[in-house]
Amino acid sequence: MNDPSPAHPPETVIPIADPASGLRGVIVLHSTRLGPAAGGCRFWRYDSDAAMMADAVRLAEGMAYKNALAELPLGGGKSVIAMPAGPFNRDALMRAFGRAVEALGGDYLTAEDVGTSVADMTIVRGETRHVAGLDAAEGKPGGDPSPWTARGVFLAMQLAARRLGSDLAGLTVAVQGLGHVGAHLCRDLHEAGAKLVVADVDADRAEAAAREFGARIVQPGDIVAAEADIFAPCALGGVLDSRSVPLLRAKLVCGAANNVLAAPDDGDLLARRGVLYAPDYVVNAGGIINVAAEHLGWTAAEAARRVEDTPRRLAAVLDLADANALPPHRAADRLARQRIARAGRERKRA
Ligand code: NAI
Repeated sequence: MNDPSPAHPPETVIPIADPASGLRGVIVLHSTRLGPAAGGCRFWRYDSDAAMMADAVRLAEGMAYKNALAELPLGGGKSVIAMPAGPFNRDALMRAFGRAVEALGGDYLTAEDVGTSVADMTIVRGETRHVAGLDAAEGKPGGDPSPWTARGVFLAMQLAARRLGSDLAGLTVAVQGLGHVGAHLCRDLHEAGAKLVVADVDADRAEAAAREFGARIVQPGDIVAAEADIFAPCALGGVLDSRSVPLLRAKLVCGAANNVLAAPDDGDLLARRGVLYAPDYVVNAGGIINVAAEHLGWTAAEAARRVEDTPRRLAAVLDLADANALPPHRAADRLARQRIARAGRERKRA
């Protein structure tokens, strides 16, 4: 988990409930200063309401920072729905959620997240137009965001490697997780001449990467410590903590997973060990750019241009980090907060 106490409290917290369908959850608008608070809907089992609330608040803050640094005209938010204990009608529950989103009049823009799907968002669309992540129409953005996310991560990795004085060709990248994003990333890296070490709890996926890209397979428990120049976490969050950071052999961490650092202190530890960390939400914004494009009516070409711009945005964070002797994750947070605060001031003046 990231720091559970957000440095900045959310603008609005809206509990949502519909006893008829079993809907129980919360919508958190961390910030609407830059635009509607955009962020997906998580459908998850929580031990307590407090745990559900803490998760939503933390995720909403992360979305606000990600959207601000992606230079999107969007604030940040998140919704969380608690998995009902007993049987429930998914259609009715998603419809009730859609009505809750609609009631906010466009202040919140939802999409899929862990536990929700394109099919769920299509149901939500029946109640509100403030939803993205639907099937892509011909030539339009939308649909599976993973190729976009992978492309942004690849370009960011290229930039970060150059900062360390090397091209990706000939470097070894340890990729953890070969799902939607990891598999696309492996293809790009292979084409760029990088060598791959891979791990996935699904052995078939690892074997496919070995076949297609000549990747060396290691056990999931060994990927962090694998002999590699770059570590690309593309599975779960919280993978770098005080126990795993000392095992890392790579000099650069750049991957798609959200909340790579178990806690901000772990990013400080990386910096002290001389490992360059490309902050997760700076490099993995390709997916939200695709979602934004779908909602804002941008063309696929405009969305692609913004994804291709990921290295420039990462460079701004790394420059700020260098100029202020800050670890990159703290520089990213600072830059995001500055952008959000500036938008608030500009709005007041207008
Ligand atoms: P996915 O579910 O398609 O792939 C995850 C892969 O990791 C699966 O193949 C799974 O078997 C593997 N895995 C799970 N635990 C593992 C472990 N302990 N060791 C090795 N492999 C393990 O997910 P997807 O869409 O590829 O996303 C990957 C990460 O990137 C997630 O953390 C996600 O939140 C994040 N992300 C994804 C975006 C997208 O566009 N799909 C956008 C931004 C972030």
